[in-house]
Amino acid sequence: MELHRTNYDLIGKPTRRVDGELKVTGRARYAAEYPAPDLLYGVIVSATVPVGRIKTLDTKRAAALPGVVRIFTHENVRSAAWLDRKWRDEVAPPGHPFRPLHSDRILFDGQPIALVVSDSFEVARDAASLVRAEYELGDHCTELEMKRTDAYDPPEKRSGIPPPPSPRGDAEEAFERSPCRISSEYRINAEHHNPMELFGTTCVFEAPGKLTIYEKTQGSHNSQGYVTSVFGLKSRNVKVINHYVGGAFGSALRPQQQLFFAVMASLELERSVRVVLTRSQMFYIGHRPDTYHAIALAADETGRLTSIMHDAVAATSHYEDYQEAIVNWSGMLYHCDNVKLSYSLAKLDTATPCDMRAPGAAVGVNAIECAIDELCHEVGIDPLQFREINFASKDENTGKQFTSKALMSCYRDGASAIGWPKRSPMPRSQKDGHELIGFGMATGTWEASLMKATAQAKLTSDGRLEVSTAASDIGTGTWTILAQIGADALGLPLESVTPRIGDSTLPASPVEGGSWTAASNGSAVLAACEAVKQTLFKYAKTMTNSPLADADYERTVFAGGRIAHDGDHARSLSIDEVMHAADLSEIVESGKASPSLLQMRKYTSYTHSAVFAEVRVDEDLGVVRIPKIVCAAAAGRIINPKTARSQILGGVVMGIGMALHEEAMTDHRMGKIMNHNLAEYHVPAHADISDIEVIFVDEADDKVSPLGVKGLGEIGIVGTAAAVANAIFNATGRRVRDFPITLDKLI
Ligand code: MOS
Repeated sequence: MELHRTNYDLIGKPTRRVDGELKVTGRARYAAEYPAPDLLYGVIVSATVPVGRIKTLDTKRAAALPGVVRIFTHENVRSAAWLDRKWRDEVAPPGHPFRPLHSDRILFDGQPIALVVSDSFEVARDAASLVRAEYELGDHCTELEMKRTDAYDPPEKRSGIPPPPSPRGDAEEAFERSPCRISSEYRINAEHHNPMELFGTTCVFEAPGKLTIYEKTQGSHNSQGYVTSVFGLKSRNVKVINHYVGGAFGSALRPQQQLFFAVMASLELERSVRVVLTRSQMFYIGHRPDTYHAIALAADETGRLTSIMHDAVAATSHYEDYQEAIVNWSGMLYHCDNVKLSYSLAKLDTATPCDMRAPGAAVGVNAIECAIDELCHEVGIDPLQFREINFASKDENTGKQFTSKALMSCYRDGASAIGWPKRSPMPRSQKDGHELIGFGMATGTWEASLMKATAQAKLTSDGRLEVSTAASDIGTGTWTILAQIGADALGLPLESVTPRIGDSTLPASPVEGGSWTAASNGSAVLAACEAVKQTLFKYAKTMTNSPLADADYERTVFAGGRIAHDGDHARSLSIDEVMHAADLSEIVESGKASPSLLQMRKYTSYTHSAVFAEVRVDEDLGVVRIPKIVCAAAAGRIINPKTARSQILGGVVMGIGMALHEEAMTDHRMGKIMNHNLAEYHVPAHADISDIEVIFVDEADDKVSPLGVKGLGEIGIVGTAAAVANAIFNATGRRVRDFPITLDKLI
């Protein structure tokens, strides 16, 4: 179907969140907050060793506590779990998804080994602490450094993750003959997911085989598929609800432990069951993997790039080959004729890593953008000027044209906002009291994807519109932007539109990830609304004595609850008049979005950004302050500048966490993460954040998606850590290549 033009009255305006009031007044319900009659509480017992077998599992003391209903272990799970052995979730990497309680084998520290179910949470938690396991220990390795030489090219590629592009030119030879060269190694420590909302599931037992599941997930359909496949239930009997999600960032893309346990216990006990992970247990649900990056770059005296080599080794688990696109960015950020990129995996005895905001790019772009800064210093050229000289006007990896790339505006506007000209190229040359001052910058980029999604629009004769799609809102603003899109499509006020998302019974949607929701679900909603408009127009035209009888659809304006030819009020009808005459109480239509293969052959779409940071480093204490960060992003049409800005702010804060704070400390002798709590695993707090300025540059793009939207859930983190690290070098002359840059590395 042809897409009709939409109004742009609300789209582009900083509309308040339609779910904002529910959230700030505590009325928005999250997965673990739904009540259910006779609810039981399950608490997971976690393994305390990284590798081995469970020799004995003593549950007697736990079972003796009054109120304990059942203790599930690998020895007594009877349910038909793991019915479909081949099933993999939407974003699963190659391998075998972890199966809780499947055997006595321990694959990673923190692995769930039992579920204690009680009629009160407190008793369940107390009893869980009394379960005693004895293990037969196996050899373990949790240290990527030790496994680098064993790194391998994953035989099966993860769907949706392009392998590194083939080499072009001769990077080694070009490196050898170039006058300016750098060769360095970067290490980026694993980061763990700490969204505010803990992972939780409330599984409401409706009847044998029939469940309503309130679940923390980025995709209700994905979780529904897990439950029906693993437990052999019928799709129509399993409803998954995720109306509100308190942050996720990739951690809730795959079904997590608590979903399995809540459903398993509910089916076995024929009762409603709630399972919530503890903050500590969330350190074992997947993480951004440890990575090493060996990077060699060369340029001529004018600062033109002559060679790029980037080899990355990333950690995965023993049971899955988790993959990300880490090095590909290095081949496309700048124009260069000689490029060689490689990527391999190394198996560690940990849980499988998982997607975390801009997976792959967050680490890969960080490493290459720090290395570029090293090269600029070597050549003696301004980092901003260097990026302009080596600007890539096409996708260097594929040769395809960009649907749009307003990166130059990002460089210009970002540089002006931070006051780039006041930067001194000489490290350690700016000081204020005890503090050294530095400025740094980096480029960011992320995919702008359009995924298959479906939606439904329902218009009622009272002029109300309901738009539905099984999308999620992980804090990104999905509720709000879908309401804006629906309202503008039909020319209605925002208050007349009811969005419906977060429910597996709604039209199918992919998981909310990859920054594709606004483009994909937004376009599906727009298409459904378009279908409603066409139907409405047909009825309007055929009404007796219709003023629109010979109207032309292309010249029809839908606004203010009316349909007008050329915007002429004399030739218009209200929605109510049309539906009344047609004797309709509602019009319901479907719409879908899907990428155009024809277009994908010729074009490629990315969001771009330029990040600028000012840092101040206390010379005596090594403390880094970041008085200002500017993130200038080119992300196509911005549907809602308010929620969009929040996404960038969040991404930048996570980038600061990557630069300075977030670090899982594993004691490799024991194979255990030692700081699995928010007290010792530090995520940036208010005291760590000062001024963050977000700039959206103008970027018109009529190809990327029907709305011209690119999406921006992830771009904010990409390049941020590099901008900070580069600013720290400018301030101190210290090039720290081991992330996070904690103060011990600066004194
Ligand atoms: Mo994102 S890491 O695809 O939630």
